[in-house]
Amino acid sequence: MNYFLAVFLGLTGVLFTCQSQASDLATKTYATYVNKTGEISLPANHRHHWSHLGSWAVNDAKAPGYGFHDVYTQPEVVKAFLETGQFPDGAVLIKEVRKMNSRALTTGPAVWAGDISVWFVMIKDTKGRFKGNANWGEGWGWALFEAENRKINTSKGYLESCLPCHVPAKQTGWVYIEGYPTLEPQ
Ligand code: HEC
Repeated sequence: MNYFLAVFLGLTGVLFTCQSQASDLATKTYATYVNKTGEISLPANHRHHWSHLGSWAVNDAKAPGYGFHDVYTQPEVVKAFLETGQFPDGAVLIKEVRKMNSRALTTGPAVWAGDISVWFVMIKDTKGRFKGNANWGEGWGWALFEAENRKINTSKGYLESCLPCHVPAKQTGWVYIEGYPTLEPQ
């Protein structure tokens, strides 16, 4: 009897912990990076405190996405994604685009990330919080910040500035998931 009670209490505890971790993330995200009207701001210090999901390199000076792309998220998101296969409410994805540096090194013709150009930000919203706001839709908030002024979201709304290019990733929740080894079990 005591054994069953202990198992029951243990499971309730685990469920409760998972639930509250998930809602803590959403509470923190929506208190810190999004204001009451749905304006998104760029998180600071993601490179030192967040998890690195993966990198893309577009090494063609004429391509729209020319540069080195590194993608980051909060450490809690990695944990939740590994458990559920979904991005939890309040997950923030930052794609940092940096200039492409290249030089022949002792390893070979190397390319690496130089100065910042822009940051793309997506914020998971499972509740449809900001209906009618041009920066929110399809389960995400969408924003773009440029290195010259990291305080202003320069996106013209997700339907115009973001979604057309993310259509190939529609089946995976609009995220190019194949580039993120951190979200795969090890
Ligand atoms: C020119 C096409 C294009 C445009 C415009 C574009 N994206 Fe993307 N985005 C991509 C591609 C392709 C990737 C993944 C591969 C890469 O970075 O090269 C990506 C990746 C991302 C990522 C990393 C997570 C993921 O989805 O894989 C974020 C965050 C992101 N984009 C946000 C945005 C936002 C916000 C906008 C609008 C302000 C936007 N993007 C506009 C093509 C685009």
